[in-house]
Amino acid sequence: MLHAEVRGAPEARPPQVATVRLSINGQDRTLTLDLRTSLLDALREHLSLTGSKKGCDHGQCGACTVLLDGRRVNSCLTLAVMAEGSEVTTIEGLGEPDRLHPMQAAFLHHDGFQCGYCTPGQICSAVAMLDEVAGGMPSHVTKDLEAAPELSDAEIRERMSGNLCRCAAYPNILAAIKEVGGAA
Ligand code: FES
Ligand code: FES
Repeated sequence: MLHAEVRGAPEARPPQVATVRLSINGQDRTLTLDLRTSLLDALREHLSLTGSKKGCDHGQCGACTVLLDGRRVNSCLTLAVMAEGSEVTTIEGLGEPDRLHPMQAAFLHHDGFQCGYCTPGQICSAVAMLDEVAGGMPSHVTKDLEAAPELSDAEIRERMSGNLCRCAAYPNILAAIKEVGGAA
């Protein structure tokens, strides 16, 4: 019986691949990828950009957060083919070691990390989050939807709630974001 089932099993098909063109940190890159490849795996496994971290691979921790055309996304939940033609910015592209992005500098200044595993995602997320606030995008805790959102502690905590930190560096992360957002 088992033998008959195996004989009737469909043949394994080769993976379907596609050519994907992306601008990564200002550089045009062309990759041939299995259609199922996440943007996170494309970055880490195909381009050796390992700054973006794989925490859960399920959209639950935010460690993989990158900017896609300036908006934050969980790159583990984004197929690389969905980003065709887009501009991707990872933590490696935000600043240089001798010319840090203000958010990177603020995280250093405020000790916004311990192990650092969540930090690239926290920083990318925070940069895009401040743009969302500047653009008037309300959050779940915004009381007045007609007014410009304030950068209160509650707003920052809510807007950064998709980025978990197992080391619980939250007070220092909050301080860093407030400094860059002008709310310190
Ligand atoms: Fe993407 Fe956790 S690795 S959300
Ligand atoms: Fe360790 Fe955030 S600094 S998980």
